[in-house]
Amino acid sequence: MKFVIEHLEPDVFDWCLIEYNHISSIVGKENLIFTNVKKGKEKLKGLGEVKGESVSKLNLKNACVLDPEAEKTLNPADKKFDYLIFGGILGDYPPRKRTKVELSSKLKCEIRNLGKEQMATNTAVYVAKKIIDGKNLNEFEFKDEIKIDIKEGESVILPFRYVIENGEIVLAKGFIEFLKKRKGF
Ligand SMILES: C[S@@+](CC[C@H](N)C(=O)[O-])C[C@H]1O[C@@H](n2cnc3c(N)ncnc32)[C@H](O)[C@@H]1O
Repeated sequence: MKFVIEHLEPDVFDWCLIEYNHISSIVGKENLIFTNVKKGKEKLKGLGEVKGESVSKLNLKNACVLDPEAEKTLNPADKKFDYLIFGGILGDYPPRKRTKVELSSKLKCEIRNLGKEQMATNTAVYVAKKIIDGKNLNEFEFKDEIKIDIKEGESVILPFRYVIENGEIVLAKGFIEFLKKRKGF
């Protein structure tokens, strides 16, 4: 099983790199392909294979797009797919359905959701990998919307779905530090 991230942002921003590093550690760099990387390719060196072409040009067979708008939910039997395709897209609220507009409506392949709630791409890959390894979606513990304290009197609310494992929110390494330092996305 290969995991494909169709990068749909105009550059490899710092937040992308934090998420993509996490994804590489979840699935292994030998199983990861970044597509549609027009700018900032060198930043992804060592994380996986990096391609400038869009996934739509690769004519992948037996592939499945992960899209919150899909009718069917990913389940362990879906390990039959050779490729799982995700959007490398910043979460937005309310969701603009970019995965549907820019990916699943353009590719002729199967589509699955991971529930209806929006997750960051790295969380979506984390959940999908566990599902194809045998866990069902209803066996996860999720938290919808998290609050991160940035400094005294300042916090940021992230209106997305996160996984709780062993009582801890599963977040990419360096994500909280990034939020604390950032001036904007
Ligand atoms: C932050 S989400 C993109 C959200 C964007 N607002 C949209 O509506 O498409 C980034 C990627 O993670 C995956 N993803 C996130 N939540 C998902 C869900 N509930 N079901 C399936 N895929 C999901 C999709 O591949 C999506 O392109």
